Amino acid sequence: MNVEMVEFENKRDMYEHLNASCAKVIDRRDGAVSSLANASALIKLYLEDTNWVGFYLFQEEALKLGPFQGSPAVTAIKIGEGVCGSAASEMKTVRVDDVKSCGNYIACDPSTSSEIVVPIIKQGRLLGVLDIDSPKSGRFDEEDEAGLQGVAETLVRLIYM
Ligand code: SME
Repeated sequence: MNVEMVEFENKRDMYEHLNASCAKVIDRRDGAVSSLANASALIKLYLEDTNWVGFYLFQEEALKLGPFQGSPAVTAIKIGEGVCGSAASEMKTVRVDDVKSCGNYIACDPSTSSEIVVPIIKQGRLLGVLDIDSPKSGRFDEEDEAGLQGVAETLVRLIYM
């Protein structure tokens, strides 16, 4: 599938374009697995300096590994454990600038230095989390947080509504 990439002046434009590409590529009739697989590929394509982009889905009271791009990863995370489990239990985005100084971090890829986890919520109900790792420390800022929360909302609308 051809996704036309352009240079972006700023992160806001980039996230706007990413949302539009998600809307072009994702068709709810394909189901959640195919849609999230393409969403992880798109996010990896748009976000520089990322080594892991993927989803953990809330199933049977835990987070289960869903579609992703990157190295093999832990398959189940308890709510409250790790950065993913914290974001899930608080239903809030968690940014970690330096994973080595984070006590509640589950190591997956040794090249990861920073991480952001955005909960995916539909009408107050947790569906899962979007997890992104970077080899650069402090890779994710407030603009990424806002942008990725917007992407999570787009995905809920495109896939789950
Ligand atoms: N670091 C995550 C685990 C998942 S991997 O990064 C893919 C965490 O602490 O929850």
